[in-house]
Amino acid sequence: MQPHITRRTLLGGGLALLGSPLRAVAVENENARLARIARTSGLFYGAAVNSASITADDFAKAVVRDADFIVPEWEMKWGTIEKVRGNRQYGAARKIVDFANFHGLSVRGHTLVWHRNIPAWAVEALNNKEYGIMQEHIRGMVANFGAVHDWDVVNEAIDPTSGRSDNLRLSPFLSALGPGYIGEAFRTARAASPGARLVYNDFGFEYEIETHRTRRRALIRLLERLKVTSVPIDAVGLQAHLVTRGLKFDPAAYSAFLKDIADLGLKIIITELDIQDTDLPADTGERDRILAGEIARYLDAVLAEPAVAGVLTWGLSDRYTWLNSDPKAKRPDGLPSRPLPLDDKMERKPIWSAIADAFRNAPERS
Ligand code: G3I
Repeated sequence: MQPHITRRTLLGGGLALLGSPLRAVAVENENARLARIARTSGLFYGAAVNSASITADDFAKAVVRDADFIVPEWEMKWGTIEKVRGNRQYGAARKIVDFANFHGLSVRGHTLVWHRNIPAWAVEALNNKEYGIMQEHIRGMVANFGAVHDWDVVNEAIDPTSGRSDNLRLSPFLSALGPGYIGEAFRTARAASPGARLVYNDFGFEYEIETHRTRRRALIRLLERLKVTSVPIDAVGLQAHLVTRGLKFDPAAYSAFLKDIADLGLKIIITELDIQDTDLPADTGERDRILAGEIARYLDAVLAEPAVAGVLTWGLSDRYTWLNSDPKAKRPDGLPSRPLPLDDKMERKPIWSAIADAFRNAPERS
């Protein structure tokens, strides 16, 4: 059984690399940490990790230095957990949860109900009206990972191209259970984990384009329906996968959107912040400057909203960004993208400083 030694214990008792499967890593200057800077304004900072990346000592050290929260990039998704019905494989996710426990980090659970990464057998079962499998999956995940601080209970349920008046995405969950699947998922998660923060997570709200305006309206309408039917939802996750393709970000319009969410009594978490640089010049200095400026503009608007509780980036180091492996997101010139606070050598970039400054300048939360 791993001794429950956390980062704070290590700091108090002097740092040493422990010869254990989850080697403790040295944490340097306690003040130059994004999480610590965030905490001075009553916010939190975290990053997505995966079960492979945390085995690299330099990355593990950077995570422990900069983050208070981590979120598994894919290891908690249904398609990874239960490829074969009834044969639940928690090992990869468990590595991340053990890493968090060992280093005194909090974990976001991502994600219980999503139209992607559903096991093929579950799609068939839902189509065959086996209604209870969604709830069974939620209960199994929450029972196995009881210490998870937040759950992304439902992810990306909005899709204005569905043609539905409620703009809900056509998915096996919707076709089997109707629009009530969302509320049912949250009620099941609350019953299974009364103490966890339950989050609805989605993307595509940032820019002054018609699809994002439609998605903003659809999200507010969805949240209003959930609130008026007493669905136990605590927060909204805005993924914030930013782009630099010349799309207009209007701080006033976005702030009004955030206030609409806050007025429903919900907290807001920026859950997957990163920024694509596919259309920017090859020069890394130029790219880094532009990207940091866009991140700063976005976070200055976001952190002015008191309901915003924290920010996670979708990765911490460019070395592991999904943007270099997703065909739709890769740079046409084949150069690696630079979307995150640290470069591939764990060196801080202008994005790191932009996030740190946004945390320092944010109004202090009560
Ligand atoms: O390498 C593993 C292999 O060892 C493992 O057995 C297998 C299990 O399915 O997965 C393999 O890796 C892939 C993984 O990325 C690591 O690169 C998975 O096949 C692949 O499904 C996974 O893609 C993830 C994707 O979501 C789908 O789950 C990306 O990492 C992840 O960045 C991406 O994240 C999504 C958020 O969940 C929701 N918001 C959008 C965001 C970006 O698409």
